[in-house]
Amino acid sequence: MDLSPAQIRRLFQLSDSLKDRSKHPLSKTRPILSLLFEKSSTRTRVSFESAMIQLGGSSIYLDTRTSQIARGETIADTARVLSSYVDIIAARMGRQKDIEELAKYSSVPVINALTDLEHPCQALSDVYTIRQVFGKIKGLHIAFVGDIATNTANSLMVTAAKMGADVSLIGPDGCKPDMHYVNEAIKSSSLVEISNDLEGGLQGCDVIYTDTFVSMGEEGEAAKRRKMFSRYQINSRVLKYAKKDARVMHCLPAHRGEEITSDVLDGKQSIAWQQAANKMLVEKAILLYLLNNEE
Ligand code: CP
Ligand code: NVA
Repeated sequence: MDLSPAQIRRLFQLSDSLKDRSKHPLSKTRPILSLLFEKSSTRTRVSFESAMIQLGGSSIYLDTRTSQIARGETIADTARVLSSYVDIIAARMGRQKDIEELAKYSSVPVINALTDLEHPCQALSDVYTIRQVFGKIKGLHIAFVGDIATNTANSLMVTAAKMGADVSLIGPDGCKPDMHYVNEAIKSSSLVEISNDLEGGLQGCDVIYTDTFVSMGEEGEAAKRRKMFSRYQINSRVLKYAKKDARVMHCLPAHRGEEITSDVLDGKQSIAWQQAANKMLVEKAILLYLLNNEE
């Protein structure tokens, strides 16, 4: 109501002149990251946002619950529109097939910031942390204990095996690893072993990795899952089955007293805090790599 035709024409002229971002009078080409999150997050959200800001760009967080997705807009339509506003998207979705749909219809790169099946940025920074601590990855023995069908187990197994580590998945009989990811891991010449034997499986292992027994979206089965996995808690007794100087990792958030005890998480064999800090470093590298700006 307030604009005159001349003002509207001026806005349209300006819009035309802004198509070339390098000529933008205010911000040049500082890239923008959109974080589209359907699930909770502390680390991944803040580390991605901080990473982008430190690189000179900026980020926009969009919770799917307050976006039009919650009112039925399709993932494909969301992807088409969102990718016309930003340079890169990091998405945390409930279902793997939704992030694949998002990537299919997005005109900019889409980073998987966790789905029900995968947590690849976590795995990349975890394997980076292992390399930092041990000086190598090849030849190490990494054991994932507990919910061996969870997203972090799938991504860690594939990434670590690809980089030459042997992987043991140790969990109860009722929990079957996803063979799609196991088959991908064994394509490398690394050993992938699945076992229910905590003591035997941890023998000679360099890294013990655990994650929650109740992942996001599984809250309805919490009691059943806590019972099923309780024998697979990482505590000081269990630690003794592994190598004397084995390191303990956890993607966090930890549920102290469930999958891990506080003395182990806070103990001298734990590298969980270094692991969490490294997320930002590796995410920064992922952003630069995808924005074709590594130099
Ligand atoms: N490890 C991890 O992804 O943590 P957040 O759920 O807090 O992002
Ligand atoms: N497996 C956990 C990982 C959290 C970072 C979950 O999906 O909730």
